[in-house]
Amino acid sequence: MEQISLSIRRNMKPREIKKDIYCVGAIDWDRRLFDSLIPLPDGTSYNSYLIKGSQKTALIDTVNPPMRDVLLDNLDQLNIKHIDYVIFNHAEPDHSGSIREVLEKYPEAKAVCTPRCKGMLIDRFMVAEERFKTVEDKETIALGGRTLEFIHAPWVHWPETMLTYLQEERILFPCDFFGSHLALTDMYVRDAGQEYEAAKRYYAEIMMPFRLQIQKNLEKIKDYKIDIIAPSHGPMHDKPQFIMEAYHNWAYDEPGNIVVIPFISMHGSTRKMVAYLVEALSRRGVTVKQYDLAVADIGKLAGSLVDAATIVIGTPTVLTGPHPVVAHAAFLANALNPKAKFASIIGSYGWGGKAVEQIAAMLPNLKVEIIAPVVIKGFPKEVDFQALDNLADTITRKHKDAGLA
Ligand code: FEO
Repeated sequence: MEQISLSIRRNMKPREIKKDIYCVGAIDWDRRLFDSLIPLPDGTSYNSYLIKGSQKTALIDTVNPPMRDVLLDNLDQLNIKHIDYVIFNHAEPDHSGSIREVLEKYPEAKAVCTPRCKGMLIDRFMVAEERFKTVEDKETIALGGRTLEFIHAPWVHWPETMLTYLQEERILFPCDFFGSHLALTDMYVRDAGQEYEAAKRYYAEIMMPFRLQIQKNLEKIKDYKIDIIAPSHGPMHDKPQFIMEAYHNWAYDEPGNIVVIPFISMHGSTRKMVAYLVEALSRRGVTVKQYDLAVADIGKLAGSLVDAATIVIGTPTVLTGPHPVVAHAAFLANALNPKAKFASIIGSYGWGGKAVEQIAAMLPNLKVEIIAPVVIKGFPKEVDFQALDNLADTITRKHKDAGLA
């Protein structure tokens, strides 16, 4: 009976990366939401890595608690009787949540992490203080023929994070950094287009708010020789330049000649305005991405915000303010802190309201110039379409003046 249940729980056997280095984590094919917020259209994985030296053995990151048996079974499959170090690059429970079970199974193991991570793990999981060994930036641990170097990397995407670098094999284990929410059987990226899209929305959702710190951390690792990047979500990179260049573009580059329009329409007025503005901008050579928030994948919207120069929010007026779904999207856009340079608002009302003022007040993080909104009474008429043409002219000119077109 136990054998049957174990075989049901086990979803991927250990896979060898190099001699005595294994993937021992879990693939979560069916998860569709992260943090009760982020859509996961393609599932995800919680990658955990086992490294055996001639004298010591280390486990890097654990797995999300509901999948802890997959990790523990995989360690049994490899007949691992002793682990010296369990490396916690990050305290978030999708990687650290199996800490108690792993430390219980391997009572001699030390939990290795940054000092700040130690406090967070104790707060969250009530692990005994004596189980920890904290490491400073650039500190190393020798496994025998193999050396782990720890690189403090705060704010990718929590304050306690670090990366682990296996010096001899030149493998970087960066936890969330360079990750993607993809459930795949491939160990390495094999579909670059799929990976690019998944990694971009992942970057948008959790890394973009800390873009300046991301820049610092990219700078910090730029001189490391890296053959493989082994993140703790999604496939590994055996061509690391691909994802490092993508991150460089997302974090540093100017936005593109792109307008993103998240909107809601109740009775068709705002939809008509959005359709007209999309056409008007497109005729002027601007790329436009529109998202009907009633049905949109919020992760796709987030991904589009990575390189949009302008955000135009479309909302009808509900109870004197913006539609609540639009308010939610505006709150998220403000939290994600994209590098857009301009913003505007379009929409409609029946008898009055403060939708524009309320939306504008929800965007304090965005360093944007607000372009005069177009908010109309009732259904759009000729004069309103003229106002939308003027808005399209202004956006196009501002993109050109900023050197984005
Ligand atoms: Fe994948 Fe920040 O945890």
